[in-house]
Amino acid sequence: MSTERLNLTDRAEEARGAFADRFGRQPEGIWAAPGRANLIGEHTDYNDGFVLPLAIDHRVTVAAARRADDRLRLLSLEKGERELTLSDIGPGLVEGWAGYVAGAVWSLAREGAAVGGLDLALTSDVPVGSGLSSSAAVECATVLATRDLYGGPDDLARLALIAQRAENEVVGVPSGIMDQMASMACIAGHVLLLDTRSLAAEQVPFDPDAAGLTLLVIDTRVSHALADGAYAERRRACEKAARLLGLPALRDATEADVAAAADLLGEVRHRRARHVVTENARVLEVVARLRAGRLEAIGPLLTASHESLRDDYEVSAPELDTAVEAALTSGALGARMTGAGFGGCALALAPAVEVGAVTRTVTAAFANQGFRAPTVFAVHPAHGARRLA
Ligand code: GLA
Repeated sequence: MSTERLNLTDRAEEARGAFADRFGRQPEGIWAAPGRANLIGEHTDYNDGFVLPLAIDHRVTVAAARRADDRLRLLSLEKGERELTLSDIGPGLVEGWAGYVAGAVWSLAREGAAVGGLDLALTSDVPVGSGLSSSAAVECATVLATRDLYGGPDDLARLALIAQRAENEVVGVPSGIMDQMASMACIAGHVLLLDTRSLAAEQVPFDPDAAGLTLLVIDTRVSHALADGAYAERRRACEKAARLLGLPALRDATEADVAAAADLLGEVRHRRARHVVTENARVLEVVARLRAGRLEAIGPLLTASHESLRDDYEVSAPELDTAVEAALTSGALGARMTGAGFGGCALALAPAVEVGAVTRTVTAAFANQGFRAPTVFAVHPAHGARRLA
């Protein structure tokens, strides 16, 4: 993957140039979809709960054109080339990166769109395997391009569900709807308050720079192998806890319900459920503070989310805990892991003047522990998926 940071126009030109070189013609259009960071609301989306992600200014850019046959020719500037026919696509049939692209085309066709062949050239600067949803960005950019070229729904929530189906059914990862909704529906300068039950979405202004703050991503650059199995296991535990409580989902439980059912749930499920209900409450409290113009006051809620994910939900990792602790001791107002966990990224909200200190302290703490050097960078709430040309 190219680590070079290009602006939107340069990315579009890069995709257009690669398309023209490889396929010997011009694309019909160019689309982009961003990765996301989740400010708060972790492991709540598959419990019908609340999430509060932002799109980040790292994205997948796709140049595409229709074909007269049913072939799909894919070029990824980072990953290589693949060729397949539409009838080759289905659950578990397409290995590796191409599954996200082909899956998105397949999923739109399943919705009833009359989808034919495509040539697609993709380029991405979303870090892969870091929990910043590079896969949702690929799915959303492809869904949008295919929809514009062959037709399909206008509604962003429906498009996000189509992208999610690619991930759930073709790639086979049982993820919730947060990542695809964030990539499709976020707007610059805002976080997206999403009710994952109704898919009602509200844009909440979020401008750290204006408050003299910076939202930092600390990429631990590790991804622990148990991630996939553990994600599915957490999901099953939550579903079982909701059944035991006699509720449709943990979204419907209160802290008091969960506390009263400690014996019924058993020790581990009790802690899992407690994370989900307290996390939903923290999301709503963060939104209340943002709406009151108190961005600097959300820090303790971010840190409380991390503690709950570490102790009750048990999806953190030593690298994430080190990143959070080091950020907090060097001036960050709050810090937490973001995404599924077991590696990937942490977020730290810090006064802009402390960014150097936080970066140095985190980097030194990693070196002390013998961890691989992290990458630390600022993110700004960016725009969701759209057509560029
Ligand atoms: C992954 C999934 C999301 C969500 C998060 C945890 O990113 O794709 O649906 O469950 O983990 O909050």
